[in-house]
Amino acid sequence: LDNGLVKTPPMGWMTWERYRCNIDCKNDPDNCISENLIKAMADKMANGGWRELGYVYLSIDDCWAKKQRDSNGKLEPDPDRFPSGIKALADYVHSRGLKLGIYSDMGNYTCGGYPGTTLDTIKIDADTFASWEVDMLKFDGCYSNDTEKAIGYPKMSSALNATGRPILYSCSWPAYEGGLPPKVNYTLLGSICNMWRNYDDIQDSWASVVKIIQWFAANQDALQPVAGPGHWNDPDMLITGDYGLSYEQSKAQLAIWAIMAAPLIMSNDLRTISEEAKDLLQNRLLIYINQDSLGIQGRQVMKVGCLSVWKRQLVNDQYAVAVLNTGDDGLPRPFSTSLGLLNITEYSAGYKLYDVFNTEYVGLFKPISPINLKINPSGVVMLFIQPATVAPHRSYFGFL
Ligand code: DGJ
Repeated sequence: LDNGLVKTPPMGWMTWERYRCNIDCKNDPDNCISENLIKAMADKMANGGWRELGYVYLSIDDCWAKKQRDSNGKLEPDPDRFPSGIKALADYVHSRGLKLGIYSDMGNYTCGGYPGTTLDTIKIDADTFASWEVDMLKFDGCYSNDTEKAIGYPKMSSALNATGRPILYSCSWPAYEGGLPPKVNYTLLGSICNMWRNYDDIQDSWASVVKIIQWFAANQDALQPVAGPGHWNDPDMLITGDYGLSYEQSKAQLAIWAIMAAPLIMSNDLRTISEEAKDLLQNRLLIYINQDSLGIQGRQVMKVGCLSVWKRQLVNDQYAVAVLNTGDDGLPRPFSTSLGLLNITEYSAGYKLYDVFNTEYVGLFKPISPINLKINPSGVVMLFIQPATVAPHRSYFGFL
């Protein structure tokens, strides 16, 4: 969507994967969907080094609304959990240098059973969100049929545009239509949405991460070309810092999301996150790769058993390569390759290789030089590859 937003994939935080539809503020005041939760995360994002790295969208997912619209037909937040209202919350989030996201659903109800946005309430809801000075809308797709969606998603895009406020528009539409052409028209989506969920919800497990990665790999011919500045595929939230992934598995999710030019939207608890998880999510070289200005989504270029090789072309003839091991047996798996085999051969003088997660310089490699790696079980090795003649971008990566 050409609204000037998200020239690089959006980064931020969202309630859903970690906090779901927890509305029990009586028994679980720190983790229920409420203004307190959002304010607490805003403080952490602003003070914990997140905002400066680009994590600026702070987004409320489902279960924020009151069960009934008001007498004017407007959506209202639940008064017990959002007593100050969404406009005041947006002010708070903006005062921390962040952007506020909200959620609604194209259909009779949200997936969680709250009032949905039907075709006749699209305009009033877009106007309401703009009047609250919201910066992002995730538009879900429960409780509507294909025909309503085909009218509703473009209509909401126009309605948001008509408000005059730039609002990042995230569409769940393709995820409800199988995610693939010909049923999904990605040319149309690219012109009306800034990002879209293609596939199933992520859950807090390695199995879920692998399932998503494998689906995107299997369908990359349809999906890879449709991403670009202003319009991104969204394989769903980052779960680093939650319960389900080991340290190695967290690296693997982050590496593949960076190669896929995916939005980096965390869903975790920034108040209690471990230093380890924080370091991974704040890896400057990883973020540099994800945020590359060319905006070309990478691809899986090789698959041998449980090893797969992923490659993304970056600006200035740089590349990122990730070797993923989805196996879970025993020792780290050896993998030998070369820049020649990876088709990175333009510079005969060679390339400098950096290990993204070890944050170290690996060495200078000619196209024929062997590269010998070991990939941990359910883990990844990620390399940043830079023509030898290019000076390192010291300011981007603390460790160079
Ligand atoms: C389905 C979506 O895919 C999830 O990301 C989340 O928004 C839930 N609905 C909320 O009910």
